[in-house]
Amino acid sequence: MSTFILMKILESVPSRYDQGIYILTLGKLNKVYDRLTSYIKKEQKVLDLGCGTGALTLRAAKKGAKVKGIDINPQMLEIAQKKAKKLNVNQNIELYEMGVAELEREKSESYDMVMSGLCFSELTKNELINTLKEVKRILKPGGLLLVVDEVRPKNILKKILNEISRFPLLIITYLITQTTIHSIESLPEKIKESGLSIESVKLNSIENFIELVAKSRDRGIK
Ligand SMILES: C[S@@+](CC[C@H](N)C(=O)[O-])C[C@H]1O[C@@H](n2cnc3c(N)ncnc32)[C@H](O)[C@@H]1O
Repeated sequence: MSTFILMKILESVPSRYDQGIYILTLGKLNKVYDRLTSYIKKEQKVLDLGCGTGALTLRAAKKGAKVKGIDINPQMLEIAQKKAKKLNVNQNIELYEMGVAELEREKSESYDMVMSGLCFSELTKNELINTLKEVKRILKPGGLLLVVDEVRPKNILKKILNEISRFPLLIITYLITQTTIHSIESLPEKIKESGLSIESVKLNSIENFIELVAKSRDRGIK
């Protein structure tokens, strides 16, 4: 899914984001998001990092969870808010224009779940490491981190193929938006280093797209 680089272009036209991402992923991302949010239960407290137009936030709210969605793009948040109203789940959702750098404001051990759909790849390496550290702090013991994102393959041949297929899209995206996304290197390792344990990892055949579940240790387990 090297076409994910084009997300940056879609984000610059939020009103087209949902439609564009559906076309880019041939609707497959919906199934991935359904699978990932199957972990969420009624009344749980959930945080969605880089919630965008609410793909994960709305799924969690529909399950009866209390969801806080944060994003730095107010236009994406506006669309998420309208969708929440239309689906009649706005009572379960709070949306904030807020960056992951501000997570230090969140209380320790206050969330059952933290989710991130295609947001980590938009962070710098240091931002990602700091975010993971904060996620570890704000998750309750036994809480889960649910991640879907673009990653760098480990297999050398797949790595080369991935870089070659990304390159032209990278140039187009940069010319249009002056920004880019980074496929994440060694995400499971970074998550482990933050102190969370890996519960499950699912990679696609070319190993450039990950679905990952990590867990905060239960109290008493060192
Ligand atoms: C590709 S979109 C994905 C949106 C949504 N999670 C989804 O799956 O449809 C990535 C989102 O991350 C947000 N984002 C990027 N950097 C961020 C940051 N530092 N803090 C919070 N959100 C950020 C962007 O504004 C964008 O809405």
